[in-house]
Amino acid sequence: SAAEKGGYDYFMLKEIAEQPKAVADTLLGRIDAAGSLTLDEVRIGAAELREVDKVVIVACGTAFHAGLIAKYAIEHWTRIPCEVELASEFRYRDPILDRQTLVVAISQSGETMDTLMALRHAREQGARVLAICNTNGSTIPRESDAVLYTHAGPEVAVASTKAFLTQLVACYLVALYLGQVRGTKWGDEIRDVVRELSRISREVERVLETMEPVRELARSLADKDTVLFLGRHVGYPVALEGALKLKELAYMHAEGFAAGELKHGPIALIEEDMPVVVVAPSPRGRSVLHDKIVSNIQEIRARGARTIVVAEEGDEAVVPYADHLIRIPVTPTLLQPLVSTVPLQVFACELATARGNEVDQPRNLAKSVTVE
Ligand code: G6P
Repeated sequence: SAAEKGGYDYFMLKEIAEQPKAVADTLLGRIDAAGSLTLDEVRIGAAELREVDKVVIVACGTAFHAGLIAKYAIEHWTRIPCEVELASEFRYRDPILDRQTLVVAISQSGETMDTLMALRHAREQGARVLAICNTNGSTIPRESDAVLYTHAGPEVAVASTKAFLTQLVACYLVALYLGQVRGTKWGDEIRDVVRELSRISREVERVLETMEPVRELARSLADKDTVLFLGRHVGYPVALEGALKLKELAYMHAEGFAAGELKHGPIALIEEDMPVVVVAPSPRGRSVLHDKIVSNIQEIRARGARTIVVAEEGDEAVVPYADHLIRIPVTPTLLQPLVSTVPLQVFACELATARGNEVDQPRNLAKSVTVE
């Protein structure tokens, strides 16, 4: 009913709008006044966490994209090698697991069969399993050694939005917590990131306040066949997520690529006026990456692409090559997906609506896939 949707036309719109609160709720009570993480739910003891020599993340769909982003954070802040794998592939390739492996299973519903089977397999091999889950008491957390719940609230729309943002928050918390427990040379950076994380909900809100041009752009592209998404570093999984949203909702051919792979194939796809969304990394800090993305944008534009660039406020270098510019707030590099994903969700939702699709219940898809 309209009341259940809180005045929005679709659950998805309501859930997109709820993201600032979902992010804040997931942080609530997990950072103390001194800026330390207090994750008592992670019942795996400090001694055991110090012995972890490998993190393996398993998940499906949008949750898998959260895992891909988590890898950058975990390896950077903790120096523990981290693998991310689709749950459906993991179990069938005889993965190497033992008591020093921490397996992180990410699932909104907690009922996805592939993810469940992956974690059962991991536990049989002696690995510890930490679930990141949005549904209290569901099967995946019940079968795990510990669970860090995301507090997104119920997510009804099939395409995941607020659950994804809270999965990211939970992943950052796990990465920072591992860094804290084990001690790392990035102590100062971790303190800064924790501070930025506590402010990030307000930044997500700011992004939502500026989405009208994105909706307008989406409507203008309703008759396109293909949209490509490019990113580097954490922007690469964001590109994959942007493309997934468009497939799920708009039933368009959409593909995400690592921008560095352009010349190894994807650039052959570019045709006159084809929309290409580029997620630009921050021009600060890792400026090498930024220079590279600027030349990628130039390359595709020279071949006729219509460039849609998601870039930080104050990033002037991309302006000459952007046919459309979507501004996001300045954030620490690793946290950028929390703000850069939001315009891509809005874009897909609006494009789907413009094409006359049923946004909350896309054809052929289910909210929770309980078969392998
Ligand atoms: C289905 C949903 C996706 C979701 C995926 C994993 O395909 O349509 O939105 O990302 O399952 O679900 P989970 O509940 O495990 O996060």
